[in-house]
Amino acid sequence: MGEYQTHEHDVLVIGAGGAGLRAAIEAAAAGVSVGLVCKSLLGKAHTVMAEGGLAAALANVDERDSWKIHFADTMRGGQYLNNSRMAELHAKEAPACVHELESWGALFDRTHDGRILQRNFGGHAYPRLAHVGDRTGLEMIRTLQDHGIHQGIDVHMECTIVDLLKEGDRVVGAFGYDRERGRFRVFKAKAIVLATGGIGRAFKITSNSWEYTGDGHSLAYHAGADLMDMEFIQFHPTGMVWPPSVRGILVTEGVRGEGGVLKNSKGERFMFSDIPDNYKKSTSDTPEEGWRYVMGDKNARRPPELLTRDHVARCIRREVREGRGSPHGGVYLDISWIKEHFPNATEHIKKKLPSMYHQFMQLANIDITREPMEVGPTTHYVMGGVRVEGDTQMSTVPGLFAAGECAAGLHGANRLGGNSLSDLLVFGKRAGASAAKFAKEHGAGKLDPLAVDTAAMKALEPMHRDAGENPYLIQQDLQEMMQAKVGIVRQELELHEAVGEIAKLQARADKASAYGNREYNPGWHTALDLKCLLTVSEISARAALERKESRGAHTREDFPDKVDEWGKYNLVVRRGKDGEMVVEKAPVMPLRDDLKKVVEENK
Ligand code: FUM
Repeated sequence: MGEYQTHEHDVLVIGAGGAGLRAAIEAAAAGVSVGLVCKSLLGKAHTVMAEGGLAAALANVDERDSWKIHFADTMRGGQYLNNSRMAELHAKEAPACVHELESWGALFDRTHDGRILQRNFGGHAYPRLAHVGDRTGLEMIRTLQDHGIHQGIDVHMECTIVDLLKEGDRVVGAFGYDRERGRFRVFKAKAIVLATGGIGRAFKITSNSWEYTGDGHSLAYHAGADLMDMEFIQFHPTGMVWPPSVRGILVTEGVRGEGGVLKNSKGERFMFSDIPDNYKKSTSDTPEEGWRYVMGDKNARRPPELLTRDHVARCIRREVREGRGSPHGGVYLDISWIKEHFPNATEHIKKKLPSMYHQFMQLANIDITREPMEVGPTTHYVMGGVRVEGDTQMSTVPGLFAAGECAAGLHGANRLGGNSLSDLLVFGKRAGASAAKFAKEHGAGKLDPLAVDTAAMKALEPMHRDAGENPYLIQQDLQEMMQAKVGIVRQELELHEAVGEIAKLQARADKASAYGNREYNPGWHTALDLKCLLTVSEISARAALERKESRGAHTREDFPDKVDEWGKYNLVVRRGKDGEMVVEKAPVMPLRDDLKKVVEENK
């Protein structure tokens, strides 16, 4: 084996957003040595884009709430494709995780009598989102980071992992490079937790920043793990649409939770015209009732702007396509209208939505206390990911765990807003504990020197190629193609074309060149990210092609209905014997009788 800077840890956590930090803290607390790898600087994570809050049935604002109702809401939102064990653990354990975070220093907004305040969000029956204005994810990362750095965790910043290393079936290490100098790094580990977040950068319009290239998904897949549900990609209904340089930046659902309404260019609240049958009973049909709900009237039904994200995103797309959109291809989101009902509206908006106020003022010269925002759907989250066992978060590869967005199961076909922050606390903690246990029960594995040298050689290939294409152009073409063909509404022909185009992009990526030397070389980094982006794009496109129905975040124009037969299956993608991609159906975990009763009682 060549000479590489080598690090040895019992548990290696790859990804330092909320799930990774929480896993690292738990593993360290179990007394094992922990390494935490982050692709950028510690604290910069997509977790901060969960702005509006963290879902947990604390019942501080409405005493009718309970874990059972949170569980039933999560299952309904996920169209019953959820891993019900994960949904149960999540609903039961989220409240304690919020209190734990508070005990570590998180400062939540308060009710008048001093308890943690909770706000409304789409698909949640009661105000359930513990929040810090519209900076909840940021407060969470700050708290976990402050707590984590006192636990003796070794942090490897600005480091990208490009391969997992195995001994037989089991993972025993990882291979990567530091972005600053381009030096290779070898990590030996008894257990590895993947917590790398999502795949948003496979699309042109996204709330995700440059790091989110599906690294964990791709690493797991190439190491032989099953991926599942990758057709379910969440397009958050409200991202900025103007100016072009900020298109896709998130506009928190908290705006709608605080009373913001959606209107088309004719001034119509178009969400009233399309309320799905299963939500008719719980959704208001007059603006007056919707407002009473926002103001806390427990007998009022919620406004249609708080229907689930998949539905709201499709309605916005329809308005734009049918010519009722705003000048820059979105619709209007108006919170300023609450002035009609609320004497201190301006102060209230600035207090509850400070980031939104500054974001629009500074980036678009819009004062949201006086004027509506222009918004449209933005790729935000992938429900699919590494197939894990619910209690331990271990993947189908021994020693390899996954948590947070890169793991599948909890959210089924569609995630409810706010369930991501609670997900990463509950399952980050579980993954950290299970990985530590695995590390204690298993000795260190042996690294295969040939595998390490091969990983290094492959990583250097783009730098050794002359006159190849610029990897940025390939990335850009991929993003445009995915946006057009694997977006909010899909159909057979386009999905077929997408699979074909991904193969062509792969051929171009195999010949791409990175110029310059290894230090600070973003062209080289992009060439290496392409492997992950192309892998996850192909997996999502193939899974979307296979699922011939519309359910949750997967809408097929050619199969517009939900089909019972498909409700029994999740799609799983794995590598075949010859390394080819195989898409299979697998039965959804059967619902235990006691949980079935919970769902029935709360329908
Ligand atoms: O709209 C938001 O604040 C996003 C929250 C989430 O994705 O959970």
